[in-house]
Amino acid sequence: MSLNEIKQSIKQKLASEFEAIELNSMLSMLIEHITGWNQVQQVVNKDTPITEAQIKAFDTSANELLKGRPIQYIIGKSWFLGNEFIVNENVLIPRPETEELVEWIVEYASIVDRPLSIIDIGTGSGCIPITLKNALPNCTVAGIDISTAALAVAKLNASKLNALVEWIEQDILMSASMPATYDIIVSNPPYIPTREITEMQDQVKDHEPAIALFVPDADPLIFYRVIARLGKQCLTMNGQLFFEIHYDQGKALLEMLNEMNYHAELRQDMYGKNRMIRASLKH
Ligand SMILES: C[S@@+](CC[C@H](N)C(=O)[O-])C[C@H]1O[C@@H](n2cnc3c(N)ncnc32)[C@H](O)[C@@H]1O
Repeated sequence: MSLNEIKQSIKQKLASEFEAIELNSMLSMLIEHITGWNQVQQVVNKDTPITEAQIKAFDTSANELLKGRPIQYIIGKSWFLGNEFIVNENVLIPRPETEELVEWIVEYASIVDRPLSIIDIGTGSGCIPITLKNALPNCTVAGIDISTAALAVAKLNASKLNALVEWIEQDILMSASMPATYDIIVSNPPYIPTREITEMQDQVKDHEPAIALFVPDADPLIFYRVIARLGKQCLTMNGQLFFEIHYDQGKALLEMLNEMNYHAELRQDMYGKNRMIRASLKH
């Protein structure tokens, strides 16, 4: 069987489940993962016969895609601001919205223009602190997560991308204090109220870690409140909180932060949805 033949057969199998553009992009990633051929080589090798082992790998992967397993978990990687990150079912797949949050922090740090101490709470794959450390090499950067398995992935990514980041295993909701003082606390914490589970794509709710996604319906802002409270103890003068938020929580979060004595600014993502907040303590 040639590469082209297996490609057509997978396309037929998955056509009813995915849009053509998404399917083509997933197929290209899958082919590169299984054969090692990049996009140009995939064209050059379209009539090249593929091995039995490769056919089996294509079949298994196509069945996994049909069951909703995200392509990023199948190939074991994802991209964040141009860098390749290792991912598995223990970490959230990095999202484009989070790239915008990191760009905002880099923009802010460039204006401040001095070495900053930064901590990321709920670090997952480590995409936020690793990208910040590589963009702002003079800054000291740390990442916290409750999950040992997520931190194992973050450490692999830090070593692959040569970023010196301190990793801390800690349950932020049970923390009375922070390990040090910080100029910036960043967090993309769990923020989806459990009741929204029924509206979510199966790919997300059945495959990404629940601990990364959900918060109790009765207290959806719990992570922001706890982090803002800790920020009062550990933010330096003019220290900043940067949060990714649920598009529906902007107003409630601004109110809560204001009541907690923070000035807060809301930003929209590329889709025009309220998605990010920057806040600093009022003097
Ligand atoms: C939405 S994910 C964000 C992952 C990554 N920062 C990103 O943006 O792709 C939230 C992360 O918070 C972590 N987390 C959940 N509860 C936590 C807690 N109580 N303390 C610390 N981290 C927690 C999860 O393990 C998960 O990695």
